[in-house]
Amino acid sequence: MTGLVVAMDGPSGSGKSSASRGVARALGLRYLDTGAMYRAVTWWMLEQSVDLADPQAIAARALDPVLTMGTDPDAPAVAVGGVDAAGPIRTSEVTAAVSAVSAVPEVRRRLVAEQREIIGVGGIVVEGRDIGTVVVPGAPVKIYLTASAEARALRRTAELVGTTVDVQKAAMARRDTLDSTRKIDPLAMAADAIELDTTALNLEEVIAEVLRVIKEKA
Ligand code: DC
Repeated sequence: MTGLVVAMDGPSGSGKSSASRGVARALGLRYLDTGAMYRAVTWWMLEQSVDLADPQAIAARALDPVLTMGTDPDAPAVAVGGVDAAGPIRTSEVTAAVSAVSAVPEVRRRLVAEQREIIGVGGIVVEGRDIGTVVVPGAPVKIYLTASAEARALRRTAELVGTTVDVQKAAMARRDTLDSTRKIDPLAMAADAIELDTTALNLEEVIAEVLRVIKEKA
């Protein structure tokens, strides 16, 4: 399936990661988690004590962390400067800081260029916020996943320890607002994307629906 790019966008908790990996696995495609790239840069900046309240400080270091992304849907790997960062990028500290880092144009320019390089000739499922609108506007298949705030918070709460649905709902609302109101490449549905509401669907149903759309479109 060289040439096929499946763009999977949507807010946090919409089920993008599990669905994207499942679709890539089913079709023997590669998989790229672009959110992991923004998280990896954020983790590195926290480690380096970059002042994340200062966009200029973030911009000045935007090119410094060296990222290595794996594209196997069964073992999506991310390393920064050769150090495995798969665990550290999922901490609540990184999650709370990532929207500020991903709003800085220098960070986005750098990561979008790297994402396009990894996507190359295609054969890949790419998940993020701006894949169908900015990274690969010509992608033959664009899916925009949504789910109710309640369903998204419930899913996220089930994945984490020591949190509540209300806390997650508030944290997600904050991150969605930051991600969709930032000036550069905000979270948005592409005009030619298919919207898929996953509120009442289980993972298998979401994967089946995406596979059906791919068959129809590609
Ligand atoms: O998908 P995620 O929750 O791991 O993404 C983490 C953050 O990265 C998210 O809050 C916004 C940002 N992001 C982005 O700006 N553009 C992307 N293509 C992917 C993620």
